[in-house]
Amino acid sequence: MSLKDKINPQRLPKHVAIIMDGNGRWAKCQGKDRLFGHQNGVESVREVTEASVELGIKFITFYAFSTENWNRPVDEIEGLMHLMIQAIENETPTLMKNNVRFEVIGDIQKINKETKEAIERITEKTKNNRALTMIIALSYSSRWEIEQAIKTIALEVKNGELDIDDINQDLISNHLCTKNYPDPDLLIRTSGEYRISNFLMWQLSYSELYFTDVFWPDFKRENYYEAILDFQSRERRFGKISEQLNK
Ligand code: FPP
Repeated sequence: MSLKDKINPQRLPKHVAIIMDGNGRWAKCQGKDRLFGHQNGVESVREVTEASVELGIKFITFYAFSTENWNRPVDEIEGLMHLMIQAIENETPTLMKNNVRFEVIGDIQKINKETKEAIERITEKTKNNRALTMIIALSYSSRWEIEQAIKTIALEVKNGELDIDDINQDLISNHLCTKNYPDPDLLIRTSGEYRISNFLMWQLSYSELYFTDVFWPDFKRENYYEAILDFQSRERRFGKISEQLNK
């Protein structure tokens, strides 16, 4: 029985979030520059996205660039933005064929015009696709997102549009970039690092965490199936005790 066949289609994560880590180290191991690692990382994005469509997963979020990544060398930042444009141009037909909607979350004001325009094009073109929503976290961090949400809520209170007593967890969730998506059920981080790195900190409260030593460019379908099978072996209690759950 293949790994894929072992996956229970009734117990799929609805939303998978991925911290794609290890591109630089993967490239270094081969004596290549960091951008070579990122280029090969795009292949893994493609495979995991296709596998998600085939399995019937509804949302997948890739952490492509954090607000802190703006501190990387300019060459790497420019290379990554160029790679993003290239990937968008190359992958748009496949996303249309596979009925995948493409969306971006993050502080996109900081992104250069060319990349922003490519993002706007693909978002508009794929907006009615429904099989899978592929979310790219770009110039994103949780602390930035929460700061924005607090500013907006404070302004609404100041303008008399909102009462302080209206502030609750649902209202906060509805002021985050992820307001249209369910919280991730599963977080995958590659490359043997055990951190959240400012990624979806509010939304990951009850997510199952899966860490693997595999570097992102080596993370392919079979690795993804393994992560999903591991997820399916977990008991999600959401603060309750085992006996209270509907088995
Ligand atoms: C982390 O590895 C990876 C990134 C910061 C960039 C990931 C971006 C891509 C794979 C391109 C995404 C493209 C699309 C279309 C989503 P690292 O550079 O931190 O690796 P290291 O820890 O080994 O240095």
